[in-house]
Amino acid sequence: MNKCAIILAAGQGKRIKSNLPKVLHKVCGKEMVNHVIDTMRAADINDVNVIIGKGAELVKERTTEKKVSYSLQAEQLGTGHAVKCAKDFLNGKSGIVVIFTGDAPLIKNETVANLVDTHIKESNKATLLTSIIENPTGYGRIIRKDNSVEKIVEHKDCNEHEIKVNEINAGMYCFDIKSLVNALDKLSNDNAQGEYYLTDVIGILKSEGEKVGAMVTEFEETIGVNSRSELAVAEKILRDRINKKHMDNGVTIIDPASTYIGIDVEIGQDTIIYPNNVIEGDTLIGEDCILYPNSRIENGKIGNSVSIQSSVIVDSSVGNETTVGPFAYIRPESTIGNNVKIGDFVEIKKASIGNDTKVSHLTYIGDAEVGTGCNFGCGTVVVNYDGKKKYKTIVGNNAFIGCNTNLVSPVEVEDNAYIAAGSTITKKVPNGSLAIARAKQTNIEGWVSRKGQK
Ligand code: UD1
Ligand code: CA
Repeated sequence: MNKCAIILAAGQGKRIKSNLPKVLHKVCGKEMVNHVIDTMRAADINDVNVIIGKGAELVKERTTEKKVSYSLQAEQLGTGHAVKCAKDFLNGKSGIVVIFTGDAPLIKNETVANLVDTHIKESNKATLLTSIIENPTGYGRIIRKDNSVEKIVEHKDCNEHEIKVNEINAGMYCFDIKSLVNALDKLSNDNAQGEYYLTDVIGILKSEGEKVGAMVTEFEETIGVNSRSELAVAEKILRDRINKKHMDNGVTIIDPASTYIGIDVEIGQDTIIYPNNVIEGDTLIGEDCILYPNSRIENGKIGNSVSIQSSVIVDSSVGNETTVGPFAYIRPESTIGNNVKIGDFVEIKKASIGNDTKVSHLTYIGDAEVGTGCNFGCGTVVVNYDGKKKYKTIVGNNAFIGCNTNLVSPVEVEDNAYIAAGSTITKKVPNGSLAIARAKQTNIEGWVSRKGQK
């Protein structure tokens, strides 16, 4: 059976009070609409169309990596109207279309797959996801007759009986494409909000004698985010799920309530994570690592047995058995080797640091290639910027850079070279030699008493 999906993401989301379109707000580091797209893909639905309207360009930009197609809903006249705008996408297609709202990021892959299976098994024309909750305020209500779904009534359109129903519409459906397209033509906007409701399609199909089914699922999965408080609720639920997954895989998380791991992060067994770590993006952390408190890692590739403490690592890799921090900042495009020490108050930017090199304290290395087995003394600065352009510094293997050295780029320090403390290096230091680039010390005897300083 042919399958495709439509994701509704054209609304501004008035209730979230934001300049950013609602579906671009992030939950556990990923935009809500991208969560939904990824879930579709995980459920093996590859042909995905996103309905865009409010902030269309931005939504497009933030979803480009996902390789979806788009339909424009220039004016937001309701969820039914939104699906009508995908006419070109549906044109000529047969089979199943799955329709989800872009503001419900918690749905599980297997639930989408189950919805599709149920739809096929029961030969339905429409199958919807519902859930049962204590306080259904704001949600569409599922109205059943003789136990089978009759129609959906929006909260604002409910009569006194309907409003008490606590089975709600999750806003997630599976339709036979032909039946959906026919029913969409019959929608009216004669309701409390003056909108074309997608939910009315259910009643229309039912009144035409078509088979409609429903699948009840956990409310938690179906939460639609309309406000900032609901955003925080979704964040917490997903965070708990992610942390549990890692713990089940053998990662120790000392305090899950204060550990923030993005949904796409992978972590190896026996890694230990202390509180207040934020691990985001496409980060991969190896086995047996220790993440002491207070680090942020975004798109980091971290090897095995690495220790990181109170540091920031962005778009960079760190090799096995390396230690980072406390208070180190590894900026984008850096590659740190194995068994390296990046100590306190060290900043690395767009630099590679070879295996077994020690950069222990108070040092800046930017736009540089550093070999293996080097030692950087305290307070080394790579002077990579002349106010207009950035230049490159190259340090070979086993070099010893004395404390408080300036390496004025572009410059090269060859293998086994030594640099005396306090030097400002502007010329190449040849293999195996010592460079001293500082004024010779002069002692002026008796100066203090002559000056009357004492
Ligand atoms: C919708 C359902 C409701 C259900 C709830 C579940 C309708 C009429 N109501 O209500 O039954 O219980 O979801 O969360 O469908 N959108 C567009 N174009 C529009 C309007 C909305 O693309 O013209 C998009 C929004 O960006 C959003 C989604 O559709 O992602 C849902 O819209 P929203 O206004 O949040 O609908 P609800 O009132 O929550
Ligand atoms: Ca909603």
